[in-house]
Amino acid sequence: LIGSGGREHALALALSRSPEPGTLYAAPANPGILTLAQHADISVTQHDSVVKFCKTHHIDLVVIGPEQPLEAGLSDDLRTEGIVVFGPSQRAAQLETSKGFAKDFMAKYGIPTAAFRRFTSQQRDEAIAFVQELKSTPIVLKADGLAAGKGVIIAQSIAEAIDALDEIFGGAFGAAGNEVVIEEFLHGEEASVFAICDGERFITLAPAQDHKRALDNDEGKNTGGMGAFAPAAIVSDDVLAKVEQLVIKPTLAGMKQDGNPFSGCLFVGLMIDNGEPNVVEFNCRFGDPETQAVLAVTEGDLANLFLSSALGNLRSDTITNTRNGFACNVVVASGGYPDSYSKGYKITGIEQAEAVNGVTVFHAGTSISLSGTL
Ligand code: AMP
Ligand code: GLY
Repeated sequence: LIGSGGREHALALALSRSPEPGTLYAAPANPGILTLAQHADISVTQHDSVVKFCKTHHIDLVVIGPEQPLEAGLSDDLRTEGIVVFGPSQRAAQLETSKGFAKDFMAKYGIPTAAFRRFTSQQRDEAIAFVQELKSTPIVLKADGLAAGKGVIIAQSIAEAIDALDEIFGGAFGAAGNEVVIEEFLHGEEASVFAICDGERFITLAPAQDHKRALDNDEGKNTGGMGAFAPAAIVSDDVLAKVEQLVIKPTLAGMKQDGNPFSGCLFVGLMIDNGEPNVVEFNCRFGDPETQAVLAVTEGDLANLFLSSALGNLRSDTITNTRNGFACNVVVASGGYPDSYSKGYKITGIEQAEAVNGVTVFHAGTSISLSGTL
């Protein structure tokens, strides 16, 4: 298991509950994951060391949690060596790693999404002209590349949009901002659907909603997610059927046709307005913190599901129930998050929390100090 966040802790828990768990190794891992897995002492960015570890330990399946290793081509480098991987290729991961790629793809295959245009930093004047011609605000501007969930600016006016454009092209998001997508603002309520895919077939898990802003009453900044719940009622059976027909099926067919079959977890970020879904974004991996809630209501053998996905032979019968009750996940973060914040506070009460029936504490950004001080 590659990764070290709360999402990977939830994945580790699911994998360790498989009827045939074998031995689970994790890298870089975190203290929570290491209560379930053995530490693989390797650097995830050194692909040859990951390959060597897998060969030495006869690893049957590698599950890649975060997007960065996928963008770096870890799945391709492992597959080249004959190692079985749950996670898309670098090219298929472009659905997340390039917003421009994802938008062009959706336009090509008629997948419902906000109207848009792409501009490179050399096309600043054209981008400004386009913004000035837009009839309605807000205007949504997105840095093309990975920006840790921060590369989207919702401008309330044309002047704000031009400032945002200069911020993106000026390097506020590094190389991710060499290109920008400018798109129409979508109204409605957001939700996420995870589809486990094998390049052709898929199975959807319980839809989820995450809560993006820090602080109570939406008073804080946008974050990667301060909590999530599943299943999300906004994604009724009817809406989910539309998402499967109008989004997931054509995405898998189109990616295959374009020579980039998608296997792994396709994260469909949606805006739902009056029962009509539009795609806000694709991600090429499980969501964090949605996974902690989604997997809590999923019953079945996730290890075998992921293995079958990785082998191109999806076995949806490995999952017996995707709606086993309800789960809600709340992120407890240090004050100041997501800006600068202090680290090293002692966390107490984990055992007492977990003594409550149904409560699981997932680790992210924690470390263990045997001396009691960090
Ligand atoms: P993304 O990284 O593309 O998911 O965008 C981050 C957040 O920006 C989303 O979760 C939405 O809350 C918001 N957002 C992105 N695109 C749009 C859009 N076209 N209309 C309204 N809100 C959007
Ligand atoms: N919670 C949103 C994400 O994982 O991208």
